[in-house]
Amino acid sequence: MVDDKQFDTLLQEKRVFRPSRDFSKQAHITSMAQYREMYEESIKRPSRFWTKVANNFHWFKKWGKVLEWSEPHAKWFVGGETNISYNCLDRHLTTWRKNKAAIIWEGEPGDSRILTYQELHREVCKFANAMRSVGIRKGDRVIIYMPQTPEAAIAMLACARIGAPHSVVFAGFSANSLRDRIDDCRAKAVLTADGGFRRGNIVPLKKNADEACKGAKSIKKMIVLRRTGNKVTMKRGRDHWYHDLMENASTDCPAARLDSEHPLYILYTSGTTGKPKGIMHTTGGYMCGTYLTSKYVFDLKDEDTYWCTADIGWVTGHSYIIYGPLLNGATSVMYEGAPNHPDPGRFWDIVEKYNINIFYTAPTAIRAFMKWGDDHPNGRDLSSLRLLGTVGEPINPEAWMWYHKVIGGERCPIVDTWWQTETGAIMITPLPGATPTKPGTATLPFFGIVPDVVTKDGVSVGPEGGGLLVVRKPWPSMLRTIWGDDARYKKQYWSDVQGCYFTGDGARRDKDGYVWIMGRVDDVINISGHRLGTMEVESALVANPDVAEAACVGIPHEIKGECIAAFVTMKGANRKNDKLEKKLKEWVVKEIGAIARPDYMRFTDALPKTRSGKIMRRLLRDIASGADQVGDTTTLEDISVLQSLQQYQDE
Ligand code: WT7
Repeated sequence: MVDDKQFDTLLQEKRVFRPSRDFSKQAHITSMAQYREMYEESIKRPSRFWTKVANNFHWFKKWGKVLEWSEPHAKWFVGGETNISYNCLDRHLTTWRKNKAAIIWEGEPGDSRILTYQELHREVCKFANAMRSVGIRKGDRVIIYMPQTPEAAIAMLACARIGAPHSVVFAGFSANSLRDRIDDCRAKAVLTADGGFRRGNIVPLKKNADEACKGAKSIKKMIVLRRTGNKVTMKRGRDHWYHDLMENASTDCPAARLDSEHPLYILYTSGTTGKPKGIMHTTGGYMCGTYLTSKYVFDLKDEDTYWCTADIGWVTGHSYIIYGPLLNGATSVMYEGAPNHPDPGRFWDIVEKYNINIFYTAPTAIRAFMKWGDDHPNGRDLSSLRLLGTVGEPINPEAWMWYHKVIGGERCPIVDTWWQTETGAIMITPLPGATPTKPGTATLPFFGIVPDVVTKDGVSVGPEGGGLLVVRKPWPSMLRTIWGDDARYKKQYWSDVQGCYFTGDGARRDKDGYVWIMGRVDDVINISGHRLGTMEVESALVANPDVAEAACVGIPHEIKGECIAAFVTMKGANRKNDKLEKKLKEWVVKEIGAIARPDYMRFTDALPKTRSGKIMRRLLRDIASGADQVGDTTTLEDISVLQSLQQYQDE
């Protein structure tokens, strides 16, 4: 149960940025009036609205009802039959897009490939047949544990083609994490590679997969892509090389007719505690949601070269590298490696090389770029960019302004998109040709989405009030359940606030109705009865010109209930430094008020983060409160960060 937390907001952001007339003129949605009108229709007549969207696609069989809702279970386009792989690929082959670039791929070592829609279609058909040739069938779960290569995209689309739900496991995860996921969904096959490149090193994917599959009874097959050329052992009868299977595979593979509610994929996401949850998405509704958000949020046009920097092991990669863009017939750029390899200018080299027009990344990356210095972006030609996006966590206004100025040249609108693995598609977001933006807010709901900020009893809080962020109505791309654990699905999302989907986030709505995400409700700090979102104190710290990144947590305090411990990464050296500590504490007092003065401050080279770049405050809380043992670290990206923080503690 969540408790009825309210957030007190102390930071005030006053800047407003309106879309330029030139941008609005050419945009899909050109004004707030148009947004409001379409939003109204989407809420008042959802069946009509979503029917129009679904009619963009090929359906083998037309649906009956648009929505069947029995809380908390939704069925969209009931009885309809379609195939998302067909709609991403085949549908474009009878148009001029046949020879348009579908995927532009850049490898970390500097190799690159371009696949047109026709070529991608051919590879997907062949690989679908290859999978069938080793016994993979409709309904079988297939784990994809591959580097970010075109073959990973091909694998996803091939699974979708034959109706075998995929579960992509981020290539940075260990054998143990992979094993947990294999067991949870009882996967029949693992698709992997000999290795993957990461910052010039080779990640031994096949070796990890072998370890993970030891004794995993469900696994019958492993298909191995040759990527890095390192030596691997192949288990006879179980393992096959990707290229061997592809050699004789036929290019003829009609897409399977699948029920609109056929499971498309399972994607594991870490809860704050306990084992990862297998979020299950299905076909028809997810297709409509990712298609429509890609089109309107990114103002996607046929001429655009669009780059989402996420990893396909993350929902952003599913919805906004693969499915959403390809459903729109767009050109989607995919990069294999790290943003700072071989140097911190790599992303900007890619923007320059491919003349990227739309660029979508995470606040954590933006803060890293700020730290690495303006010279890297300034030394490249970024003039092709016309639109920027962010996702993953609240973006602090300081980082927003830097993104706006240094990357966007003050000409590109920024779409700060709020959504979750569970929501499948973007939920709260500006529309770039219409919505005036303010640094730090995801602004207003997308079509068909009814968010609200409420008390625990489900009562909406008024303007400027803080509360729990919920969604009041089902939406097409919503998760359908947690794989194998429907009871957990109900408890996790549908029991805290009656009749609503509870997001787990705290939020505030300003007088214009804009939603400001305050972070996970578990991250609230309660100082002498004042509830502060960690975000605010972090924002204040990062607003100091010498600070690169900050994470704040609440730890128990005799008098105040809780007090603030701040972990800070400086742009320069990160040593213990009493003078600096004092200066920064005063800075926070000046920015927010004495209530927010951190009691403890630690300087560190890096913060513990999940693979998707979220700060793991739970671990910091353990460290700051001096716990001997920190909690579950399986989703931590780099364990050494934690070790160095613990040493610091011992000094
Ligand atoms: C949580 C979901 C959706 C893909 C990325 C992460 C936070 C996400 C924003 C944003 C403020 C954000 C929320 C949310 N979050 N986007 N624009 N502003 N917070 O997916 O791992 O499922 O995490 O990320 O706390 O609940 P995820």
